[in-house]
Amino acid sequence: MERGLEGLREDCLSCKKCGLCAARTHVVFGVGNPQSKVMLVGEGPGEHEDLEGEPFVGRGGQLLDKLLAAVDLDRRVNVYITNIVKCRPPKNRDPLPEEQEACLPWLRGQFSLIRPKILVCLGRVAAMKLIKPDIKITKEHGRFFEKNGLLMMPTLHPAALLRNPKEKPGAFEDFLKLREKIDELGCDIRNSGV
Ligand code: URA
Repeated sequence: MERGLEGLREDCLSCKKCGLCAARTHVVFGVGNPQSKVMLVGEGPGEHEDLEGEPFVGRGGQLLDKLLAAVDLDRRVNVYITNIVKCRPPKNRDPLPEEQEACLPWLRGQFSLIRPKILVCLGRVAAMKLIKPDIKITKEHGRFFEKNGLLMMPTLHPAALLRNPKEKPGAFEDFLKLREKIDELGCDIRNSGV
């Protein structure tokens, strides 16, 4: 029987495929509209996300929501947001390569059920894993990369923008490019009758 995204989420909630399961409060599976054609992928949950079970709910998440709102996107309406790893790495360290590999089948499952047309990589870790290992995010953010019909765009991580606010205008430009691409492809579910 087709269990869909909810079935995948239920399975993910009991995942023990890597050591990150030991200290988690919540598995942070994802949030948003499963009909969306735009998926955003971050690195992994931080403290707030682990406590609440939702991606990007801390200060970085508030900034992300503002960037989305500036281009008429909303985490509950017309995008889907998730992370490379679904459980918090201790002390917010980068997820280890083996943790990323262990967690990737969940992202692949989300991807094949949601079937986005555009994927935005939030930060270096997601961009290296999903676009190319040698990506230079400070130089290449805002560019679209095509792989098997999927458009992927890296942008700076919201936490990096909080540390380095002078990068915010560059990130804003990326979101404007995202909006343009959505309009060009006609893939905003708000305008497609979904
Ligand atoms: N940073 C991420 O990469 N993802 C989150 O969900 C929160 C912070």
